[in-house]
Amino acid sequence: MNFLKRTMLCGEPRDSHIGKNVILNGWVQNVRNLGGLIFIDLRDRNGLMQLVIEPENQKELAERATELKQEYVIWAKGDIRKREKSNEKMPTGLVEMLVQDYGIINKAELPPFEILNDIETSEEIKLQYRYLDLRRPVLLNKFVVRNKVYQILHQYYYENNFLEVETPVLMKSTPEGARDFLVPSRINKGKFYALPQSPQLYKQILMISGFDRYMQIVKCFRDEDLRSDRQPEFTQVDVEMSFVDIDDVLSMTEGLIKRIWKEVLGIEIENKFKRMTYVEAMSRYGSDKPDLRYDLELKDITEVVKNCGFSVFKDNISNGGNVAVLNAKGCADFSRKKIDELTNLAKKYGAKGLAWMKFENGEINSPIAKFLQENEINEIKNIAHAENGDLLLFVSDKWTKTYTILGALRIEIAKLSGIYEKIKNDYSFHWVTEFPLFEYDEESNRYVAMHHAFTSPMDEDVELLNTAPDKARAKAYDLVINGAELGGGSIRIHDSKVQQKIFELMNLGPEEIESKFGFFTKALKYGAPPHGGIALGLDRIIMTLCNTDNIRDVIAFPKTTSGLSLMDGCPSAVDIKQLNELSINVIKEK
Ligand code: AMO
Ligand code: AMP
Repeated sequence: MNFLKRTMLCGEPRDSHIGKNVILNGWVQNVRNLGGLIFIDLRDRNGLMQLVIEPENQKELAERATELKQEYVIWAKGDIRKREKSNEKMPTGLVEMLVQDYGIINKAELPPFEILNDIETSEEIKLQYRYLDLRRPVLLNKFVVRNKVYQILHQYYYENNFLEVETPVLMKSTPEGARDFLVPSRINKGKFYALPQSPQLYKQILMISGFDRYMQIVKCFRDEDLRSDRQPEFTQVDVEMSFVDIDDVLSMTEGLIKRIWKEVLGIEIENKFKRMTYVEAMSRYGSDKPDLRYDLELKDITEVVKNCGFSVFKDNISNGGNVAVLNAKGCADFSRKKIDELTNLAKKYGAKGLAWMKFENGEINSPIAKFLQENEINEIKNIAHAENGDLLLFVSDKWTKTYTILGALRIEIAKLSGIYEKIKNDYSFHWVTEFPLFEYDEESNRYVAMHHAFTSPMDEDVELLNTAPDKARAKAYDLVINGAELGGGSIRIHDSKVQQKIFELMNLGPEEIESKFGFFTKALKYGAPPHGGIALGLDRIIMTLCNTDNIRDVIAFPKTTSGLSLMDGCPSAVDIKQLNELSINVIKEK
């Protein structure tokens, strides 16, 4: 062996170790040669330790130490002693090691960035050198949190009698609304496996098999547009339970979240999580995943302006649309440019325009005031609780669009008003329930399931499947924490006839149903218990615990928003021989 093995970790020495002779192994964080003393900071996963060489007494060692450079891997042996000046910022800051001897285990090239918590390096470079980036304690520590959560998950579900079961990665496509990643079969030419978008059907089939309670920490794959909270492969905490109703799934999940918050953050959550219907969430906050750490509520003013002189409002209302308002508290001083930026944001969400009204110095300033009567303005003011200094923003469109647009503006106003800065250490936990069963997809001209096709309608809405399916609500629920959807699930359909009806409403023909889901509808006929479950986005839970809005911070080897892995350069072209074996011909794009 070419090195002396450590007897302690770099973050461990404390004053109780003073006088002990120890060996440390680690990476050289930096070397400071102050002439009279040479300091070497040595780092491992556990922490940072100061080593010291005294050139006056250790001439040969001091001369040799000039070879040490950043990120060299070394061993060092010596006595722990009290530091002359302690450093309170470091857990090991009371002590240092007087080096007796050391050896280089491995040299290192000069890294393209320093291994420090705060660095300005571009994300591209950091992703290329991910192994170096992961050495930075701020990043590495997120994986310590992640590891802790894995342990809690296993413990919690084990204690509650769940069976952990691995489901296939090579499977038949289960639609969750995104595109599948496909894997060609060599043995069955022209046929493909899909990577799971979720193990949805497998977990339901396990309930039919009588497994009763299932859980799995599972990789899921979705070929969709990526964002800061979305990766093409991500991890779900996937759960399914038999003989349950909504309350059972929600309280089991709340128990888990409370345990995680307590054990990871030391935060005791006492209350039951609030529940809010989809309609309430949309009409009060303009989102099905509202951030409830702040108010800024939306208000409907359709009744007030339905006969007003502003034709944009009036015509939209007579066509079945609505008008709603957001009171941007204290924002009457926003410039025209700022309002134009808000208008552009609204337009990004499909708005046709953004009407506004300022209450400034006792006066009203608004491009639409001239179309409104005094009593109409007064009523709007009342409903919106507007005061001097406020800015009102109005959107007029179809219901869902009106609220979605105002919901986006609500978040922007909260950012611009500094609200996010104030709430960054708060948590709000709640459930959004009673989602619509279907949404209408204009592109394909048909209903698509809002959660997924296996979600049960609410008992009182089953009849609506025959008369007004778009009005039917689902036994579906989302877990929302601080304005992020951390999980979603539903009570499932366990009656094969209802399942058949749902497929038909989604405009799937008998052959399509048979070829895509035949195996599943068949299984449903062999004694399916009532069942339901949920999947939590593990990466998003870790993001929330670590207070980061970048999902790449909590995944060891993430992809860019264009789906690339910059470190190893995938996806990449493959050998023609491999393609031939699969009978695959790549069509070159012109
Ligand atoms: P759903 O599609 O809502 O439900 O997904 C559950 C949770 O997974 C997380 N998630 C993602 N996280 C990171 N990157 C992504 N691309 C991504 N997509 C989803 C979210 C989301 O809330 N089978 C159902 C669950 C069920 O009904 O039991 C499902 O997959 O946090
Ligand atoms: P116009 O008369 O079309 O110039 O519109 C007057 C004001 O109403 C402008 O501030 C527009 O941005 C705004 N506006 C237009 N369409 C809408 C709409 N659908 N919802 C809200 N405001 C709108």
